[in-house]
Amino acid sequence: MEHRHYLLYKPYRMLSQFMTNSKRQKKKRFLGELYSFPEDVMSVGRLDEKTEGLLIVTTDGQLSYKINTSAEFDKEYYAQVDGMIDQRAIEELTRGVKISIEGKSYSTKSCKAFVLQTPPELPPTQQYIRDDRHGPTSWISITLTEGKFRQVRKMCAVVGFPVLRLARIRIGPFGISDLKGQQVMEITEEFER
Ligand code: URA
Repeated sequence: MEHRHYLLYKPYRMLSQFMTNSKRQKKKRFLGELYSFPEDVMSVGRLDEKTEGLLIVTTDGQLSYKINTSAEFDKEYYAQVDGMIDQRAIEELTRGVKISIEGKSYSTKSCKAFVLQTPPELPPTQQYIRDDRHGPTSWISITLTEGKFRQVRKMCAVVGFPVLRLARIRIGPFGISDLKGQQVMEITEEFER
């Protein structure tokens, strides 16, 4: 079977699933609204509802597993945090911090993190971000080789700089610039599995 793969930019407040039959989720937005995907697609490494950014969607389960687990597909995020983040916090993030996953303490793996000197260019968002009169904000890049639930938000909160806006901007070799301003793009890469 020919597999199909897509890159897309999930907006703030959209779920990383295609649709639902649940009445409880009636007011939510789903990926199915962006594009007519084939029936058997899955989204790889879901983003939480309030996180925007790059998502890979594929019909290939083995590829999905690889993207979720292989260091070749590291994930880079830009996070706008509350306050002027300092080198101490960056070092703590880099070394790894203790976060809570399903009620258990988990030590995050060492990762790459640095301060962005100027705000990054991201697609416009519907998210309201409080203005700087209520205190400064700053931006970091953080690259993880794992994907625990709400990991970036939890890590930044632990070091004292809660996340205000979060965007995934790269998954392995794919970056948001590959989308060339489109929200969804089919890719025809041959993937090794
Ligand atoms: N980290 C988060 O906190 N949320 C995501 O959606 C992805 C990574």
